[in-house]
Amino acid sequence: MIFRDRLVFDESYRPRRLLVRGQEASMLISRYRSRLADMAGFTDVSLIYGSIGRVGIGKTTVAWYVGKNVEEMARANGINLKYVYLNVFGAPSLHQILSVIADQLGLGVSIRGSSAIEALKFIVDHLYRRDTFLLVTLDEFQSLLLSPKMPEDDLYMLLRVYEEIPSKDGINRISFLLVASDHRVMAYMRERIPQVESQIGFRVHLKAYTSEELKIILRQRAEEGLEPEAWDDRLINMIAEYFGDDKGGDGSARKAILTLRSAAELAEAQGAHRILEEHVRKAISESALSYVPIEDLRRLPQHHLFILLALAELGIERGDWGTTGELREKYEEVCERYGQAPRGHTQFHSYLRELSTLGLIELRLSGKGMRGRTSLMRLPPEIPLDRMKEVLEAVIKEKGGEDWS
Ligand SMILES: Nc1ncnc2c1ncn2[C@@H]1O[C@H](COP(=O)(O)OP(=O)(O)O)[C@@H](O)[C@H]1O
Ligand SMILES: [Mg+2]
Repeated sequence: MIFRDRLVFDESYRPRRLLVRGQEASMLISRYRSRLADMAGFTDVSLIYGSIGRVGIGKTTVAWYVGKNVEEMARANGINLKYVYLNVFGAPSLHQILSVIADQLGLGVSIRGSSAIEALKFIVDHLYRRDTFLLVTLDEFQSLLLSPKMPEDDLYMLLRVYEEIPSKDGINRISFLLVASDHRVMAYMRERIPQVESQIGFRVHLKAYTSEELKIILRQRAEEGLEPEAWDDRLINMIAEYFGDDKGGDGSARKAILTLRSAAELAEAQGAHRILEEHVRKAISESALSYVPIEDLRRLPQHHLFILLALAELGIERGDWGTTGELREKYEEVCERYGQAPRGHTQFHSYLRELSTLGLIELRLSGKGMRGRTSLMRLPPEIPLDRMKEVLEAVIKEKGGEDWS
């Protein structure tokens, strides 16, 4: 037996204790705790962010952990507090965001026919009547800032609710923990919503994981998910050293964990009693060779997938960097193939920026030409184009139509 509990290796698995990033988490938890204690002002906005294209470095994990812990801490102190997590990639409208919050709060009234401001009033009033505090995570927050269809007024209304809608008893009950995967998020905020930016509480920059950090993370997974005789530290170290940022890897806990899982699966498939170095080698080389970020793709809205598909096809047909114009043309062709109307130009551009934020496309400016500078783009070189095309087509098919955008 190799696995003790397979779920431990699932993407959705959340570790109960954070052995790495515990300090950052405690800092945030104590900040919310002290805001909760000073009764007039649970209106904190804090921010966790990473660098562009750095995925799997624990941003979402830390936010979730903080939220759940603040919730528990409040409960232990007899305070009602609800943590609501939502991913705003693809930039949902304010109204869509509020519906999710209302649903999770169990508001009991439908906000479908009401305006955003009315919906906010319902929420503020609900919190007042139930004497409940609310902590909201907006993950991939940079999406909202980059989206041309998200007005500043809406961002203000959401993040500074009580300026617009004072609570009946003067007690503010809504705080935010924003998560962004783009270090430029502060600059974007300064530009679009300076009054929120200047009041940010903690800003926590998460870096890519080092080998030592990955060893701790992997050992924790192995202890929880594998049989004790099926693994040893040597194997863990080998994976951690390959992916560690200090050793030239990309510092992603996600990739390291998935690699440990595939090594375990290989051992299992061969009927081995334990994971061998050979299984680890194979798992590492597979992760390097056929690197298509399928889990990241599954999280993308439809038109982002269309753009990537267009870019893959463009790459297959002619290689090299493509221009915005070429990509746009290909994208329209893809939309037509799937019977969908293409997005307008402004939105198309904001999707491009979002995808580059995730490290899924590379963007650069061309040298000065006759008509000034133009953007050039391609898929990152480690992605095999034909495999990417296949995977995208499969993901588009499995997703069907349930999107924000
Ligand atoms: N400090 C940590 N301890 C344990 N597991 C972690 C830690 N950081 C990340 N992980 C795991 O790595 C994966 C990716 O982390 P995630 O928080 O989704 O990264 P990001 O949001 O930065 O892309 C998840 O499966 C998560 O459980
Ligand atoms: Mg994340």
